[in-house]
Amino acid sequence: MFIKCNDKELEILKIIAHSAKELGMSCYLIGGFVRDKILGRPTKDMDIVCMGDGIALAGRVAEKFNPIPEVNFFKNFGTAQLKTGGLEIEFVGARKESYKHNSRKPEVEPGTIEDDQNRRDFTINAMAISLNKDDYGELIDPFNGIQDLANKNIQTPLAPAQTFSDDPLRMMRAIRFASQLHFTINAETFTAIKENAGRIKIVSGERIADELNKILMCPKPSVGFDLLYKSGLLKIIFPQMADLAGAEYIEGHGHKDNFYHTIQVVDNIAAHTNDIWLRWAAVLHDIAKPVTKKFEEGHGWTFHGHEVVGGRMVPKIFAQLKLPQNEKMKFVRKMVELHLRPISLTKENITDSAIRRLLFDAGEDIDALMTLCAADITSKNKLKVKRYLENFEMVKKRCAEVEAKDHLRNWQPPITGEIIMETFKLPPSRTVGDLKNVIREAILDGIIPNDYRAAYAYMMAKAKEMGITK
Ligand code: CTP
Repeated sequence: MFIKCNDKELEILKIIAHSAKELGMSCYLIGGFVRDKILGRPTKDMDIVCMGDGIALAGRVAEKFNPIPEVNFFKNFGTAQLKTGGLEIEFVGARKESYKHNSRKPEVEPGTIEDDQNRRDFTINAMAISLNKDDYGELIDPFNGIQDLANKNIQTPLAPAQTFSDDPLRMMRAIRFASQLHFTINAETFTAIKENAGRIKIVSGERIADELNKILMCPKPSVGFDLLYKSGLLKIIFPQMADLAGAEYIEGHGHKDNFYHTIQVVDNIAAHTNDIWLRWAAVLHDIAKPVTKKFEEGHGWTFHGHEVVGGRMVPKIFAQLKLPQNEKMKFVRKMVELHLRPISLTKENITDSAIRRLLFDAGEDIDALMTLCAADITSKNKLKVKRYLENFEMVKKRCAEVEAKDHLRNWQPPITGEIIMETFKLPPSRTVGDLKNVIREAILDGIIPNDYRAAYAYMMAKAKEMGITK
């Protein structure tokens, strides 16, 4: 066997080979599994291509396992899939494909293994391992994908314009593989991406989001985002992010390039968290800088309110990128809205009250917010970075102190609306809300401690002032 497989994988491949022989068809292991095995990357997805009916082969293979795994198949595409031994195995008949211009759905006719390899996306994904008696385990590599793996080179088997025009999602896949594997996209292939970028519009938002998320989960997502920007794809799929690029100069004053700042922040945060939503918060933290940018005489460039405007942009961007409209989105919005708070605290005298408000607003996400803020420090000035980080550590320390004293994290009001309604025999009303707010503000300002007795006494006094009687 040209690739190194474990005993379980070897056993499964033998069963597949045997089943294909019974059905009188030849078959091959192909694509990502072969690529990842050669690279020594972990992989759990096997793709099998056969000269015949892939669904029939999957059925025959399934029968040989105990218990028999379920076979899911898509008749229209002639593909079938089953899970066994921790592996997901996909079967497909070898195809010769041509695509209609306005769709990525191919017109398929049966083909040889060469036809099938021709129609794959990259030379490194077109390598096959024979599962046939005569040359079992040998590598079939008509495009010298093995050399491209060694050279860390991404290129298409056929003319790149043809490969991308056939299936424009491959343009994003090229960039995602470059980012994941630290490979380079060869010049001719990259030029074709630039020329065909507009064709990405026919690809579904969900599949684009899938690739974007994979880029974002790389150890250095900046590689992928930079290539998306340079290829012109970003402008089409996520124009708000592309708009961050560039620096404007007025009267000799420039501002930093917010695109390169943002992708640096994303790399910084990637070193500290695998939480994809916190990584999305890093992508979006300055997203409203272009729309809030102003040049103020004698002052320079300002981006006042970009955190609030940016927070408001989050739901629309999530919808546009087919990301979920749920708690995760709310978390990202909250991070964007609060991302300046800890840093702004470092500039003033840090009062207990300011810390209490930060703890209250961030709630259980305070650690995530601190991770984002630390990642946001990207100045090239070493002294400035040192000063920021020192101040920042101080804010963290003060947060821990105030939290230990006041327990504001996951704060529950000591006086609830029910208690207010019961005490003053009030129906649910604005007065109840007003009284609740007055008590909360008093606790956050440190006028009263965060406990029931103090809050109750304060409620009685304030109610009197507000003319509310029992
Ligand atoms: N493929 C292709 N064009 C696409 C998608 C896939 O030619 N748009 C081919 C490639 O040969 C690829 C194989 O189908 O290797 C399997 O696709 P997939 O499972 O999506 O990708 P992998 O290469 O296995 O990589 P990953 O699992 O990381 O997506």
